[in-house]
Formats: sequence, C-alpha cells, structure tokens
Amino acid sequence: MKKKIRVGALISGGGTNLQAIIDASRTGAIDADMVFVGADNPAAKGLERARRHGISEFVVDYAAVIRASRQDGGKVRPPGDFQLEDVRAKQAIFPPSADRKTVDAYLTSRAVAEALLLKAMPPGSFDLLVLAGFMRNLTPYFIDRVNTDRARPRIMNIHPALLPAFPGTDGYGDTFRYGCKVAGCTVHFVDYGEDSGPIIGQRAFAVHEDDTLEAVRQRGLEQEWQLYPECIQLFAQGRLKTERMRYERPGGRAYERTIVKIRSESGSSRSEAGSS
Ligand code: GRF
Repeated sequence: MKKKIRVGALISGGGTNLQAIIDASRTGAIDADMVFVGADNPAAKGLERARRHGISEFVVDYAAVIRASRQDGGKVRPPGDFQLEDVRAKQAIFPPSADRKTVDAYLTSRAVAEALLLKAMPPGSFDLLVLAGFMRNLTPYFIDRVNTDRARPRIMNIHPALLPAFPGTDGYGDTFRYGCKVAGCTVHFVDYGEDSGPIIGQRAFAVHEDDTLEAVRQRGLEQEWQLYPECIQLFAQGRLKTERMRYERPGGRAYERTIVKIRSESGSSRSEAGSS
C-alpha cells in the first residue's frame, strides 16, 4: 500500500476547495489523508464538511483575539517564544515605510492567534498544511514553526489569480475589473509576504466578452478544484523541490528568487505544473 501524507487544512468560508481535497483523498486520487480542519471563525461553513467526513476540527476565533488585543491597547501578552524584532524584520506584508506601532500591533495580535493554532495542530501532527480559502496572512512566527527545514516548505495556498498579478483578497474581482482577457488561479508555497511565495502550479482560462464576475469566479473555482489536489499529489510524491535562482538582468542588475522545480516521475525536473 502507498504511503499517504497527513494533510491539515485551514479555512475561513465555504470550503469547496477543502471538499475537492477530501474527495480526492477519499477516492485515492491523491496519496493523502485529511487529518484536521481548522477555521479562523466559528461560522465557517466548511467546518460542516469536516464534520460530515469525521475529520477533527477546531476554531481559533481571530476576530475575538484581535478585538481583545485592541481593547488591551495593544498590550496583549504575546506567546513566550515570540520575538517581535525577528518577526518584524522577516515579515514582508508591510513595506518598510509602514507605521511601526501599527505593524507591531498587527504582528503581535496575529502571533497570539497563531500560538492557538499551533496548540491545536502541533507541527509534528501533519506533513503538509493547505490554506483553502483561509483569509488571514500568516506571520513569520507561525511559518518558522511549521517550516523547520527551510529547504522543505510545507504550507501551500491557493490564490484566485495568476500571480504575481492581483495578490490580495479578491483575485477574480481584481482580474475582471481590470479588463483582463485571461483569468486564472495559482497554488504556491507560503513565504513571509502576501501571496508572494514560490509558484507550484497555475491554471488559466479565457474571460469572454459577455462574462459576469460571478461566471468568472465559478469557472475559476472549478479550475481550483482540479489544480489543488494535483499540487498536493506532487508534494506527496516528493516531486517538489525549491531552488534559489540568481539571474543577471540586462544592465547587470541581479535578480534572485526561490522557485519550485518539479521532478518528473523518473527524477528529472521541469519548472511548472498544472498548465494543461
Ligand atoms: C477560493 O477562490 C480561493 O482561491 C480563495 O478563496 C476562495 C475559497 O473558496 N483563496 P472555498 O472556501 O474553497 O469555496
């Protein structure tokens, strides 16, 4: 019997991607078992999907944690192993010019919530964490505790746009309103920035003249339901490898980026998946 990886999921909403992953694992399309589902709010409809499949679930109520830390005037007690300077230096969600107090209050309150996540889902209890419509940024505090081996990232996210275009919370909306003729979705590893990590797979589709945003969103979701399990299977097969690349650009300016190389089943690698 094939060895299966243990996958945990974090969600915020309806969880149709979660469902696609659960289905793919139940039918044996991917070598994975869903071992827990966590949500950032108790109303997340996707929790019901976990319940229906007998998968353990938990909630960390981010809104309540953030409210409590605001009421405390930003003085909320961070987790004992939280090092603000380190987390602030690594984070790439805010630009360097951002107001220090705002950044610190954000990072501290998120770390309080993240410590609760880590308690509910100890990093040794899963092989891969998938963000499936989880509408929160994770800070370096959390990421470093999951990615203990820097060379092997193990947090994935699905984003509703062809990154690096349109990061943020409304990828299909931003794509549609911009007048793009092509829309798409991206699965990537999570890094310290917002939707900026190494790309694992992408799917693209045409936007037609008479399309509505809702139609684009629906077609996009249907692509997501295929792409996410495919990328999880590549991870399960040990075929994803990150590599730090350095390029010389015209004019002599260097460009560095960590990218994902995908090994073929026989061992060699190519640099992209899921575009068929
Ligand atoms: C998806 O479009 C995903 O790309 C985005 O949020 C949406 C979640 O949908 N991050 P669902 O909860 O999986 O149905």
